[in-house]
Amino acid sequence: MSAATSPETTPAAVAAVVVLAAGGGTRMRSKRSKLLHEVGGRSMLSHALAAASAVQPEHLVVVVGHARDQVEPLVHELAPQATTAVQTEQRGTGHAVRCALEVLPELTGEVLVTYGDVPMLTGETLAELVQRHRADGNAVTVLTADVPDPTGYGRILRDPDGQVARIVEHRDADEATRAVTEINSGIYVFAADTLATGVARLDAVNAQGELYLTDVLGLARADGGRVGAHRTDDLWQTEGVNDRVQLARMNAELNRRTVEGWMRAGVTVVDPATTWIDADVRLAPDVLLHPGTILAGATTVGEGAELGPDTRLRDCEVGEGASVVRSEAHLAVIGAGATVGPWSYLRPGTELGERGKIGGFVETKKAVIGAGSKVPHLSYVGDATIGAGSNIGAGTIFANYDGVDKFPSTIGDGVFVGSGTVLVAPAEIGDGAFVAAGSTITEPVPADDLGVARGRQRNVEGWAGRRRESRAAAADAPGDSGAAQ
Ligand code: UD1
Ligand code: CA
Repeated sequence: MSAATSPETTPAAVAAVVVLAAGGGTRMRSKRSKLLHEVGGRSMLSHALAAASAVQPEHLVVVVGHARDQVEPLVHELAPQATTAVQTEQRGTGHAVRCALEVLPELTGEVLVTYGDVPMLTGETLAELVQRHRADGNAVTVLTADVPDPTGYGRILRDPDGQVARIVEHRDADEATRAVTEINSGIYVFAADTLATGVARLDAVNAQGELYLTDVLGLARADGGRVGAHRTDDLWQTEGVNDRVQLARMNAELNRRTVEGWMRAGVTVVDPATTWIDADVRLAPDVLLHPGTILAGATTVGEGAELGPDTRLRDCEVGEGASVVRSEAHLAVIGAGATVGPWSYLRPGTELGERGKIGGFVETKKAVIGAGSKVPHLSYVGDATIGAGSNIGAGTIFANYDGVDKFPSTIGDGVFVGSGTVLVAPAEIGDGAFVAAGSTITEPVPADDLGVARGRQRNVEGWAGRRRESRAAAADAPGDSGAAQ
């Protein structure tokens, strides 16, 4: 929702977007690249590429360096049209852009530069930035924000006419400059030739000994170009993620926005603070979410469905009017009007038909359960196809695994399986058949037959009474303590 892009505001295509993603991310203290860490269930890199695609770049270049073995494959997976440029040594943002331009043909038009680790930046904001750049006829337009604590950021120095004179890095700034609260987000649109000639002229005469992309703005001004700023009020959009504390804060904020967006779209959320909805989740109106509901991945939920409390669904499809209570499901399809839980576990490949039921303490895996069929209590259903209108009694186990291989079972329509049954796979129960409670089924049960496979009951007349009497007599015997066992 909030991270989505709206096509209405998409401007004409830019020549290129360059995503800087070569930096280290040491403060995450992670074996995983920072860019693979997730916000709203999507990697930071994925947010960056989604925002970039909103301005329809003819060329998309991601500058990679640190943890390149992790970042590069993800770039190609998420954006097959993207090119990567390798920056082997991190010599500054200006150097990173030089590396990007080396893999691009000569460009005309605009080049947008953004970062891989600014996950809340939206495509809408990038589109506004491009619009502002065009409307003002700028050579460079930088995205800025007024922040309460500008420490560490580059400061925007403006001329009396409002144009940007230059950007001064925190470490190169004097006291007066450090007092400026308007900061450089690091996101810009450049006229392609301004960028190409600018980065070619950079030097490393500064506190960090790096090639600063920010110096291109001063150079553009010196060449007589207009340099403008587009200021955003949404400070989150310019904020990078450097450690896991920031990561959690950003996840909470993105979630707050996502949940609010869904409430405005007609979803009832009983407790927004304990409801988590990933960026790619889709909900229909009149969905009702109880506290402790976590909707992850590409989950979709149909109109009027009721979820939770304490339920986590990942990459699931929930039909209209279905209900899931205190359960966990992954890659499962829950049909319209079906009910699940409390306390059940639906593993990948579970497909519960319309008006079907998976009740309490049931585990399912690769289980296709037909319309109106019920698995109400305490069962395991694995590698099974169950037809429509069947009832699987309490405590039924599909014994699908012999320790080496797994075998599938097929249960027809209108079948009744009695409680406490073990169906040894591959089991085959025909339409309308009846399996007696407590059976261990090892042979097919044809349609409309009764399958019964258990020891026959035998009653021994008076046995329990006799035992009681003999125990009582032993307890009364002298010299023998009845309490001793
Ligand atoms: C930069 C800006 C600063 C701005 C800040 C916003 C410069 C000189 N300074 O600061 O004005 O306020 O961003 O966050 O541009 N990167 C590379 N290769 C490099 C260096 C950086 O790919 O050699 C990437 C990093 O992965 C990161 C981004 O560029 O995504 C910014 O780098 P970072 O070091 O965080 O920013 P600063 O240079 O400190
Ligand atoms: Ca730096």
